[in-house]
Amino acid sequence: MLGRIREWRIDRMTDRVARRPHGRSARRTYAAEDVHSFAWEPVLEALALTAGDTLLDVGCGGGIFLRRALETGCTVVGVDHSQDMVRLARKTTEGRARVVLGSAERLPFGDGEFTAVCSIVAFFFFPDPVAALREFRRVLQPEPGRVAIYTTAPELKGTPAAPYPLATRGHFYEDEELAEFPQAAGFREGYVLRPGPGAQLLVARP
Ligand SMILES: C[S@@+](CC[C@H](N)C(=O)[O-])C[C@H]1O[C@@H](n2cnc3c(N)ncnc32)[C@H](O)[C@@H]1O
Repeated sequence: MLGRIREWRIDRMTDRVARRPHGRSARRTYAAEDVHSFAWEPVLEALALTAGDTLLDVGCGGGIFLRRALETGCTVVGVDHSQDMVRLARKTTEGRARVVLGSAERLPFGDGEFTAVCSIVAFFFFPDPVAALREFRRVLQPEPGRVAIYTTAPELKGTPAAPYPLATRGHFYEDEELAEFPQAAGFREGYVLRPGPGAQLLVARP
């Protein structure tokens, strides 16, 4: 019984803070100018966005990266399963991005709507990574479609970047395992880069 209560508390805390952020403190965290900004340049470099692109950010949180991506001139769309984050992202992007409530495993978009898909510090919460990647592929145009996913490497488990007990709710993958997901989801190409210590960037093309 005590064990079950403890697990429930960890789930509740993980949701509030990161897995489905909500509440005043989460809104403050995900509206910060530099939240997860360490991930932006590797993702932007991999995607090489231009004004002709339509980007989808899955698990967009407070929309700070969406705002940065708008600077490339591309069209920007965000999706998140937290109603609080959807509202916040609409506010931070001042109506310049479409932001929709929805889940990575069942994206509320038609086939081939996007030329680029990204996800920043959210992938490790997806319960079924291959199912999510299948959805990413479905909503992408075959050419010039591309995916860039920034996630936390196993060696950071238990550090301030992924502290316990929250880390027990995340999925951490070795590079080799991560690199196999795109093919399993039907992508033509997929590989893992290491843009910094403890950082993994999964790049894929349909
Ligand atoms: C740690 S936050 C990162 C937010 C944002 N990408 C950033 O870098 O600031 C993870 C985000 O992913 C969202 N998320 C987690 N799992 C999701 C899922 N299965 N479908 C949609 N959004 C999800 C959460 O609601 C949260 O906003």
